Amino acid sequence: MSTSATSRHSALTLAQNDVEAAVEVALIWAQARDGAGRPVIGVRGDIPWRVPEDFKHFQAHTRGHPIVMGMGTWLSLPKRPLPDRTNIVLSDVPGWADSDEAAGAIVVGSLAEALAVAAPGGETTWIVGGGQVYAQAMAAGLATRLEVTEIDLVVDGDTFAPPVDPTAWQATATTDWRTSAGEQALRYRFITYRPTQLGG
Ligand SMILES: NC(=O)c1ccc[n+]([C@@H]2O[C@H](COP(=O)([O-])OP(=O)(O)OC[C@H]3O[C@@H](n4cnc5c(N)ncnc54)[C@H](OP(=O)(O)O)[C@@H]3O)[C@@H](O)[C@H]2O)c1
Repeated sequence: MSTSATSRHSALTLAQNDVEAAVEVALIWAQARDGAGRPVIGVRGDIPWRVPEDFKHFQAHTRGHPIVMGMGTWLSLPKRPLPDRTNIVLSDVPGWADSDEAAGAIVVGSLAEALAVAAPGGETTWIVGGGQVYAQAMAAGLATRLEVTEIDLVVDGDTFAPPVDPTAWQATATTDWRTSAGEQALRYRFITYRPTQLGG
């Protein structure tokens, strides 16, 4: 555990240097909230709501681009890999890259490696989860854009979105609340955040 934590720390330092290689590193997630107001993104390896419009939003942003995710998120996908995208998966488990579970993924051992593999030509790289990977990317200051879907739902969760520091991030676009045509008819809205120092 501690070895893994140490190697991840070094990886983040490297990743900060590598970030220039990618024009844009964007994080995308959808969040509801729990009874304590925390931003829930998952529970028991799944997402505890269905909003088809958010699924389309995710596809529209990420299709044609490299996507980076942790092994937890990879294993949660109903169908792997996600089509028309280079699927890059973070894992430290020795030998896992050669297993059937990893078929269709490029397996890397650090965020730095993920970014180097993802965007040698400088295109947008999407970091698509989950909780551990969002937290690392935010802590490392890697992101230049956040696409957050707010779902108007109170639900129990065990995985949470990273904090979005209002002194570091500003909402540059916010849609009205809309009602999903999905079975749960949940209200949702899309918010784009950019770093405050880059301006709106
Ligand atoms: N609402 C949303 O938008 C959204 C989006 C994505 C995911 N989710 C949800 O989030 C949950 C999964 O998130 P999670 O936090 O449990 O898992 P995760 O972040 O998807 O994956 C964690 C795993 O990734 C690997 N990993 C992470 N950082 C690494 C690094 N720097 N180097 C090497 N390997 C690294 C490790 O795998 P090894 O153990 O193999 O080393 C770790 O156990 C699920 O419930 C999913 O449905 C929600």
